[in-house]
Amino acid sequence: DAKTKAERSILGFLRSNDVIADSHQFASSIGIGHGELESVIKSLSAFQFIESQDVKKDKWLLTEEAKLYALNGSPEAQVFSAVPPEGIPRAELEKKVGSQIFKIGSSQAVKNKWVEIGKQLVSRKVENVEDTLKDLLKSIEDGKVREAIQNIFLQMGFEEMPTNNFVESSFWNFDALFQPQQHPARDSHDTFFLKVPSTTRELPEDYLEKVKQVHEIGGYGSMGYRYKWKREEAEKNLLRTHTTAVSTRMLYLLAQKKPFTPKRYYSIDRVFRNEAVDRTHLAEFHQIEGLICDRNLTLGHLIGVLNDFFASLGMKKLRFKPAYNPYTEPSMEIFSYHEGLDKWVEVGNSGMFRPEMLRTMGFPEDVSVIAWGLSLERPTMILYGINNIRDLFGPKVDFNIIKNSKICRLGPVFSYSMRNVPF
Ligand code: PHE
Repeated sequence: DAKTKAERSILGFLRSNDVIADSHQFASSIGIGHGELESVIKSLSAFQFIESQDVKKDKWLLTEEAKLYALNGSPEAQVFSAVPPEGIPRAELEKKVGSQIFKIGSSQAVKNKWVEIGKQLVSRKVENVEDTLKDLLKSIEDGKVREAIQNIFLQMGFEEMPTNNFVESSFWNFDALFQPQQHPARDSHDTFFLKVPSTTRELPEDYLEKVKQVHEIGGYGSMGYRYKWKREEAEKNLLRTHTTAVSTRMLYLLAQKKPFTPKRYYSIDRVFRNEAVDRTHLAEFHQIEGLICDRNLTLGHLIGVLNDFFASLGMKKLRFKPAYNPYTEPSMEIFSYHEGLDKWVEVGNSGMFRPEMLRTMGFPEDVSVIAWGLSLERPTMILYGINNIRDLFGPKVDFNIIKNSKICRLGPVFSYSMRNVPF
C-alpha cells in the first residue's frame, strides 16, 4: 500500500543521500499525496528511524479573483473582447461583461488606449491586444522563475541543500572558505552582524584547527595568509552573505563520508548584505547556487555546465571574464548577451574551489568542486526587462510593472550529461 511504499522510498533514498530537502517534491516524485507522506514521516520520526524538521516556504498562489483572470483574461481584455468592431452602447457592454468587470476593466482599457468611450458608443481603438496580465498570472500559476530554475537543477540531477538557517557563524560564511579575517567583506559596513546571540557555541574543533593552520601557514602547496588567526572573529554570528556558506557545510559533511561519493547540489534562498540600496542592489536578495563535486573536474566542465544551465534559462550566448574570489581559483564572472539592451550583462560568478578549502575538509587530492552563484533577481530582471531591482522585490513593488511587462518564457531544458561537456 501507499504507506509501505512511502516508507521504503524514504529509507531507500536516505541510505544514499543525507537529506530529503523538500517533502512536497519528494511526494510528487514518488507519486503519493503530501498528506500521506507527512504521516509516514511523522511515524518514522516517532520511532527515531529518521529525524525530521518543519520547514516553512514562501509560495505565490493566485487568489480566486486572479484565477478567474488567468482563465478568462484580465478585466481590460475582457472588456476589449466584448467590444465588436462596429462599437457597442455602454449599457449593453456593461450587461455583456457584468458590472464588476466593466467597472475595473473599462478604465484600464481606456488607459491602455484599447477602447474609446464616446457619447453613444464604446469602440475599439486597436485591432487586437496582448493580454500580458493574463500571461503573467498564468506563469505564476505554473510557478514563476524560481520554480523554473529549480526544475532545471532537478533535471540536471542536482539535490537541494537545506538552506533554512539565515543566521550563520563567520566560520562557515568566511573562514572555512579561506577568506582572510581582514577581508573588507567581513566589515560591518558590508555584513550584518548579530548582537544577540553575538557568537556561535558550536564549531567542529578538529576542522577548526586545520582551518586556522591553512590561514596562518598554508598547506597543499599554499603559503597561507601569514597572519594570526583569531577564533573570536570566526565565532561572530551574522546574517549569511551568500549561500556558499551552506555549500561549505554540505561539502564538509560530504568530505567526512568514506568512500568518496560524487554529488551535485543546488540551493535557492535568501542572503543579506549591508549595502546601500540602489537600482541594482538590495540589502536582501535570493541567491541561486549550484555545485558539482567529483574527481578530476576541470574548468572545461564548469564552462560546459554553465552553458547548459544558462541555455535552459534562455540565455544562449555567454562570455566569461577572469575574476577573483578568495575561495575559488580560477574564478570567472559570467556575462550573457541581452538582445533587448543590445549589450553584455553580468549574470553570475563562478569558479573552482581552492585546495586550501577542499583539502582542509579532508577531500582526496583528485576531487574538485566546480560552483557558481547568481542572484535570482538578476536573471528575472534581464528576462523581464526590468531595470530597477526595487520594482521586483521589497515594499515598493508596483503592480503596473507586473501588469505591463511582457511575458518571458524560459526556454527548453536541455538534457544534460557530464560526458557531453566539451573540454
Ligand atoms: N559566493 C559567490 C557570490 O556571493 C558566488 C559564487 C559561488 C562564486 C560559488 C564562486 C563559486 O557572489
